[in-house]
Amino acid sequence: MYDFDNVINRRNTDSIKWDVAENELPMWVADMDFSVAPEIAEAITERTNHPVFGYSKLCDEWYDSYINWWKRYHGISMDRNSLLFCPGVVPAISSMIRQLTSPGEKIILLTPNYNHFFYCIENNGRQVLEVEMDYDGQSYRINFERLENALRDTMACMMIVCNPQNPTGNIWDKSDLERIGQLCAKHGVTVISDEIHCDIITPGRQYIPFTSVSELNKEISITCIAPTKAFNLAGLQTSALYIPNKKLRSRISAALEKDELSMPNTFASTAAIAAFTKGRGWLDEMNEYVYKNKLIVKTFIETEIPQIKLIWGDATYLLWLDCSGLRTDSKVIASGLRKSTGLFVMAGSYYGKGGKSFLRMNVACPESVLMDGLKRLKKYIQSFSHKHRMNLNPEPFKMIKSGQKTIELRLYDEKRQSIKPGDRIEFVNTEDGNILLSKVEKLYVFKDFEDLYKNLSLLKCGYTDNNIDTANPGDMSKYYSSEQQEKYSVVGIEIKLI
Ligand SMILES: Cc1ncc(COP(=O)(O)O)c(C=O)c1O
Repeated sequence: MYDFDNVINRRNTDSIKWDVAENELPMWVADMDFSVAPEIAEAITERTNHPVFGYSKLCDEWYDSYINWWKRYHGISMDRNSLLFCPGVVPAISSMIRQLTSPGEKIILLTPNYNHFFYCIENNGRQVLEVEMDYDGQSYRINFERLENALRDTMACMMIVCNPQNPTGNIWDKSDLERIGQLCAKHGVTVISDEIHCDIITPGRQYIPFTSVSELNKEISITCIAPTKAFNLAGLQTSALYIPNKKLRSRISAALEKDELSMPNTFASTAAIAAFTKGRGWLDEMNEYVYKNKLIVKTFIETEIPQIKLIWGDATYLLWLDCSGLRTDSKVIASGLRKSTGLFVMAGSYYGKGGKSFLRMNVACPESVLMDGLKRLKKYIQSFSHKHRMNLNPEPFKMIKSGQKTIELRLYDEKRQSIKPGDRIEFVNTEDGNILLSKVEKLYVFKDFEDLYKNLSLLKCGYTDNNIDTANPGDMSKYYSSEQQEKYSVVGIEIKLI
């Protein structure tokens, strides 16, 4: 029995995740708040007993540990020569992009998808070709027609598949992977399959390695694997590439050499070997614990925060929360959530098309920490929706500020809403999502957008700032359907913060 309930103070340990203010609770970046498996810690301690840390090389056990793990738990036989070391999956992907593609070429991503893929592609001067997945309000599916259209683009030369998928937690099935392989082979596109999350799975479920489904998939792909996500070793920088195709492998081996990415640090192989040879018991218990945490979130959201929805995925400890009911960009929600409650989660817009109304939340933490996070989430979402319910139509709005004066512009439903000077309202600052208590000073009612633009001077406010494009009256109306515009009037609510 391992202890996953123990709350470990990670502040002041140079942790990226925990380098936050005292009142903040980070549930964003993908690392776990659990202590590493004692078997791995012991192996590292043992290595530190030897006092010399010179240049290191890979030993036979490093190869054997990967080969045996993937044979035993994922049913694939990897040949030792097909494995290359690299310190991290992201640096390896970046290096492979430079080696296998040219500037300006396009790389396909099924979106929403892991944000660093975008950065790797764009920072290397290549273009992201997004193929948005179909979302039916419950789950995601690949739209193969859209995918094939993208593959037909003559500039498309690589596809990065996240298997299983971050941020949706999707496990791809055999037929999906087979079809991706067939289509990519048909259009001469190389596949990078990032399988770093493959061992974080609902107990009883299995992921399917991309290369395992067909000879074709094996020939056209590079698989990224590592113990770092499942065993919480990201800071040790240790991962591997599995590349059965000899020609592809030698090109990538040359790229890793050129980018000086082929040499392990002293602890990289020690940690990987310990994880893959002695870590199974810990991993199974960790997966049970994370699964239990996911169920807690599911129940909590269903009963306490019905304004949002958990999109269930059987992989990763990253939860994908549908906040479309709040009708506000998740960057505003994430920022307001952090400012108002200290809870720090990722805005879905970082993950590409289709992510705009989602939040991503990391639940690899002790249950007590999780409950703290859920309570903060509830508090914010409730006051956010309360604000909308209380006084206004829950639609996007504009805010104009000039000196002390702040005016919120929005559509106004006279039948449902009654707001008058003197009312106290909770006001969402559209710049940062912060909820601020304020008092209504004055109302300006306009018949429609045209009327608003004709009479902007009435507001006697800084309406030339970039919140309203006076030269383009379409600016406001693009946020509202014509039906809504007909039904509601436009109102400017002048408020004073209290
Ligand atoms: C899909 C995916 N790939 C790669 C990484 C990072 O890999 P590394 O730390 O080995 O660069 C992450 C981290 O969250 C990830 O989610």
